[in-house]
Amino acid sequence: DDSDMVPQDKKLIQLNGVLYPAALCSEENFKALESFEAREDDLMLVSYPKCGTTWSLNLLNDMVQTVYNKDPPNMIQILEFGAPNKYEKLNEEPSPRVLGTHLHYDNIPQSFFNKKIKLLVVFRNPKDTAVSFFHFYNKNPMLPNYSSWDTFFEDFIGGKVCWGSYFDHALAWNKHIDDEDVLLMTFEEMKEDLEAAVKKLSKFCGFSMTDEQVQEVAKKGTFTAMKEKISNIQKEFADIFLRKGEVGDWKNHFSEAQSQEIDAKFEACLAGTKLGEMLKY
Ligand code: A3P
Repeated sequence: DDSDMVPQDKKLIQLNGVLYPAALCSEENFKALESFEAREDDLMLVSYPKCGTTWSLNLLNDMVQTVYNKDPPNMIQILEFGAPNKYEKLNEEPSPRVLGTHLHYDNIPQSFFNKKIKLLVVFRNPKDTAVSFFHFYNKNPMLPNYSSWDTFFEDFIGGKVCWGSYFDHALAWNKHIDDEDVLLMTFEEMKEDLEAAVKKLSKFCGFSMTDEQVQEVAKKGTFTAMKEKISNIQKEFADIFLRKGEVGDWKNHFSEAQSQEIDAKFEACLAGTKLGEMLKY
């Protein structure tokens, strides 16, 4: 066991067979989450890491700020992150709360389903997700480093990365894509027409935003605008979470064999499904 060789803040823990960064998630958090109470007007973002979490949380916060004149929270919005006492603090936060999670469908607190909370689910094509995740592992002080892309690629395909297999997440959501309280959006669709994406999201949330308000939120949600805003607050965070923001960066990393391998896995999991069509790349 060489786990002692890894600096404490880069340690991973395994919960129910899935890896998580020990500096962010703990067994206590998962215990506390079992009894987490959602509120009817919570807005919840669900994403596999690197699919557009920071981006869509930013959009949701800006929308809530516009519609409710409510300041965005200063606490980390990802449910499973932080000290276990965060759940008490979350109980005190005024509504509507904007929350996020990378948890697999099966591990999302039951309360969100019982209360029919609106779930925004964001996905991104698996190739760009993998590339983004590789760089994230190497830049984030809470994750171990990968010296080579090839090693990371194997772990990504095999689901041996934090939060588990991209394909497990996609397979689970594919069954719920038409659920009433679910809106599935893609990174690529946000990239293609952000204003249209904000409009769709606003409608799903039941907000009545004017065209000007939609445009304003979209303007604040571009890569450049977000990078500038977040850099002014916390430079490191901006560097770690806003890297390139492009579609197709996978072409600079994948070998032909790797491209074929992930295509085959994608086909085996999602061929002919609605989600499969949405994530064609
Ligand atoms: P890249 O590493 O490909 O640049 P997450 O927030 O889920 O961790 O995802 C991070 C990815 O989303 C990074 O991808 C990041 O650059 C990209 N991203 C964040 N905000 C963005 C924006 N406003 N426009 C485009 N991409 C954005």
